[in-house]
Order: sequence, then structure tokens, then C-alpha cells
Amino acid sequence: MTDTSYTAAAPLDSLPEGGVAKIEIDGISILLCRSKGQVFAVRNKCSHADEELACGRMRSGWIACPAHGARFRLETGEAMNPPATEPIQTFPVRVVEGMIEVKI
Ligand code: FES
Repeated sequence: MTDTSYTAAAPLDSLPEGGVAKIEIDGISILLCRSKGQVFAVRNKCSHADEELACGRMRSGWIACPAHGARFRLETGEAMNPPATEPIQTFPVRVVEGMIEVKI
């Protein structure tokens, strides 16, 4: 049976390796991040002081908060360094026929 709980987010072609795209699903701001050949979806909200992560640096498997520099693993949301100690929210992602889909 097809899992209909995924929402079409963006064409895979529109997100190059190393790219970050800000999207919104059900009123939730989400970042699609393509790193190490994989696509990740994380909430566009830092766990430290709720700043947007959208303009942060993204490197092999992590994204940094532009406000105070905390880094988070894209796969798990885990905080890698202070001042953040809590993880950010992550969402399951799949690619179906060239379309990135996110499960909210
Ligand atoms: S708001 Fe992100 S590290 Fe402070």
C-alpha cells in the first residue's frame, strides 16, 4: 500500500549537492538539505533560541546556526556543539519519481 502521509516538497533536480532549500508544509518552515548524496529535511528552527537555520553553513552532514554557531547533524538533528544542547526536529524523506517527499 502507498504511504500517503508524505507530501511532495520539491523536484530532486532543483536541489544540487550542497544545496539548501527553504520550503513550507502545513505551516511548518522546513529546510531540505542535500549533503553526501542524500536529502535531509530539518525544521528551520534552532533549538537554542529559535532562530532560523536557513542562512547557516551546511557541510558534510551538518548545518550550522547563523546566530550563535551551534551545529546539528542533518540525519538525527543532534546538537554537535554549544550553545545548543537539544536536537532540532528532523523529518523522514523519500524520493519518488524524481520528487522529494517529506513526512510531517
Ligand atoms: S539561536 Fe541557534 S545557536 Fe543560538
